[in-house]
Formats: sequence, structure tokens, C-alpha cells
Amino acid sequence: MVGLQGSGKSTWVGTHLAGTHTVVSKDHWPNARRREARQRRVVAELLACAARVVVDNTDASVEERAPLIAAARLAGVPVRAVWIDTPVDVCIRRNDAREGRARVPMVGLLGTRARFVPPRTEEGFDRVDVVRHSP
Ligand SMILES: Nc1ncnc2c1ncn2[C@@H]1O[C@H](COP(=O)(O)OP(=O)(O)OP(=O)(O)O)[C@@H](O)[C@H]1O
Ligand SMILES: [Mg+2]
Repeated sequence: MVGLQGSGKSTWVGTHLAGTHTVVSKDHWPNARRREARQRRVVAELLACAARVVVDNTDASVEERAPLIAAARLAGVPVRAVWIDTPVDVCIRRNDAREGRARVPMVGLLGTRARFVPPRTEEGFDRVDVVRHSP
């Protein structure tokens, strides 16, 4: 998954992939140290036992996505990007409506937007799907 905070990634995963894929997200371990390393390990372990995996993080940059593409290559499985392309103002509005810890700081959302690069097959994805916002 690729998309800003509040874009609707987890919601889309819930409706489209939850029945077929194991969902991995750093959000599952909010307090753990070295969450990136932990996520890579979990993804590799799941792929090694032939599970279908969806990684539900913002994954806004080429650099963040590269290790996941590499993990899929190593396991010999196809890898797909699903970009939830929701306008930033909509993301901000949805995030503002969240309660408690679910609401991310504005600086985090704008930081993700600042480093955002749309996913492309040239990065190594076998397929890139774009889910556009429909008001
Ligand atoms: N298609 C949609 N239409 C309207 N509201 C939506 C849609 N998808 C998600 N939402 C709402 O937007 C909010 C954010 O959705 P969601 O939690 O799925 O985003 P996210 O991309 O997973 O965010 P984060 O990166 O912070 O985990 C939620 O309140 C959700 O109910
Ligand atoms: Mg989410």
C-alpha cells in the first residue's frame, strides 16, 4: 500500500485484501524499537511460508518501498503497489476527525507528502494500481 496518512489504506485493505492476505504494518507495534527491521523480518518470514502479504504503511518514497520489492524478488513472488490517491486536503480533514492516538500530527502528514513519489513499475513492481478519490 502507498498513500498519505488518512488516505484510506487500512480501510481499502479491510474491504479488498483482509480475506486473502496477512496484513503487516508498523502501526501494529507503536511502541516497539527498530520497527522497520521488525517489519522486514516479519514480511520475509511470511513470504518464506508462502503467505500472501500486504504491507499497510504510507511507503511514500522509492527508498521505503525498495526493501519490500527486494523481499518479494527474493521469495520469487509478484509484487504489486496499490496507491490510494486521495487529495491531501481530504486526508487532513479525515485525520482531524480521528480521535486520540489515531490522529497523526500535521507535521507527520505534511512530511509524508513532501517525500511522496508515486509508485511506478520501473521501481520493480509487477503491477501498480491507483485508487482515485471519488468525492
Ligand atoms: N473511501 C472512503 N470514503 C470516505 N471515508 C473514508 C474512505 N476510506 C477511508 N475513509 C475514512 O478516512 C479515515 C482514514 O482512513 P484509513 O484509516 O483507512 O486511512 P490510512 O491511509 O490507513 O491512514 P494511516 O496511514 O494513518 O493509517 C477513516 O476515518 C476512514 O473511515
Ligand atoms: Mg492505516
